[in-house]
Amino acid sequence: MKTDIKSRQDIKILVDAFYGKVQTDPTIGYLFTKVANVNWEKHLPIMYDFWDNILFHSGNFEGNPMMKHRFLNQKSPLTETHFKHWNKLWKKTVDDLFEGPKASEVKIRAQSISKMMMNKVVK
Ligand code: HEM
Repeated sequence: MKTDIKSRQDIKILVDAFYGKVQTDPTIGYLFTKVANVNWEKHLPIMYDFWDNILFHSGNFEGNPMMKHRFLNQKSPLTETHFKHWNKLWKKTVDDLFEGPKASEVKIRAQSISKMMMNKVVK
């Protein structure tokens, strides 16, 4: 029986599962591991903060996603295919683990941020 995303601990479970898949993903994995060479110990807590702030208004996210993705796009072009795939993986990870209003919200928010990012970055 699945439950909804209820806490930062649940966000951690979701984010860890998602980036676990991302790291070996044939479509977008290389952008993280080869192009950006992400330091996961640093990146994952930033992502907990990001989603904690979106779902529970924790107010503890201080990053600049648009700048980071623009920089990434300059190093290696991001495409609509990348963003679509990112969302497919995100949705699947959420659906595999959680169910409820916050689980729906986290998918919808990712989709709209993704669209905005694509418009601002991939051009
Ligand atoms: C093809 C799609 C995407 C790729 C390849 C990608 C890749 C990356 C990479 C490489 C970083 C930088 C990590 C670092 O150097 O510290 C990053 C940061 C980040 N990404 Fe993405 N990303 C994608 C889509 C998204 C989407 C759709 C969202 C939000 C829904 C998102 C949210 C973030 C946030 C919040 C950060 C942290 C920004 C910061 O530290 O200021 N990303 N992403």
